[in-house]
Amino acid sequence: MTPFNRAGMDFEHIPHPAPVPGETRQQALLDPGFGKLFTDHMVVIDYDADKGGWHKATLGPREPISLDPAAAVLHYAQEIFEGMKAYKQGDDSLALFRPEQNARRFNDSARRMAMPELPEELFLESIRQLVAIDRDWVPTIPDGALYLRPFMFASEAFLGVRPARQYKYILIASPVGGYFKGGAKAVKIWVSRNYTRAAPGGTGAAKTGGNYAASLVPQAEGIEHGCDQVVFLDAVEKKWIEELGGMNLFFVFDDGSVITPPLTGTILPGITRDSLIQLLREEGLTVREEPYSIDQWRADATSGRLLETMACGTAAVVTPVGTVLGPDGEFHIGSGGTGQITNKIREKLVGIQKGAVPDTHGWTVKL
Ligand code: COI
Repeated sequence: MTPFNRAGMDFEHIPHPAPVPGETRQQALLDPGFGKLFTDHMVVIDYDADKGGWHKATLGPREPISLDPAAAVLHYAQEIFEGMKAYKQGDDSLALFRPEQNARRFNDSARRMAMPELPEELFLESIRQLVAIDRDWVPTIPDGALYLRPFMFASEAFLGVRPARQYKYILIASPVGGYFKGGAKAVKIWVSRNYTRAAPGGTGAAKTGGNYAASLVPQAEGIEHGCDQVVFLDAVEKKWIEELGGMNLFFVFDDGSVITPPLTGTILPGITRDSLIQLLREEGLTVREEPYSIDQWRADATSGRLLETMACGTAAVVTPVGTVLGPDGEFHIGSGGTGQITNKIREKLVGIQKGAVPDTHGWTVKL
């Protein structure tokens, strides 16, 4: 047992019989890619409504889990997750970026999916414990970080349709480099007309697997057309730009204004999105959260009024959009490459996350 911690629950430490040797690990960290490699350990916390809720926490070897074939998640998709990163600082210490926002959003998602909330302190303690034991897995390459994936699913074996009474919270970690193979190069976006991602009253604002599953067919359609990512339009008028499969969008204009689609319940409230709104305002830009249509996007890009478009998220950081392929053909944003504001804001954000730029917001949490 570990000493009593701020979360009020002991984490039982299960020794790892065979952690990956340091040399193999170091090799892997030089070119980790995204989401392919995993650290040695994981955290598991069990929930049972009939045993007083969250009751057993372990920090042990990362290994396959066993699940009853009737587990509710496999049938009715009660599942949520988060994405966050631990960043190596100049002095070799590690820091998280706004982790309390992930803890809060995790519980927002839980409520929407009729799942139990996880006390924020327990969520944060699980991160502290895993990062402490796997701290040698944080890559030092540019763009490198330890990606943390907390998730929760319904484990109760029951086929009736109602909220499950048993759940598992698991935290795994993956050393990562950039999300896109081409690095921070501008991406080409496919405008999905046949599919939407989320409807009013649906689960679009929750970080739940189903939203991502729904994006895969349109994503494949985009790839068939030579694009990297898909942009989804609203489900009602099929006119307003919402978000990419896993990233929010910002549009930068020649008069110093910026638009990002508003949080009306159908798009994910990105933590990077919220941070960029603040950072762009500090740069003197006027940021408005308001609807922006696909037709206006094309018109503004063509007239030159729109200078840049950027996509953002924890995994993708800040990525320029260079080209858009819609039903009426292709159009380019600015020069089709990385714009000045996109570059500047990306550097500022990454600088704060890595401790190279003063954190005037108190966003980073040292571990
Ligand atoms: C993240 O940015 O952390 C996400 O969860 C998006 C996912 C597509 C990797």
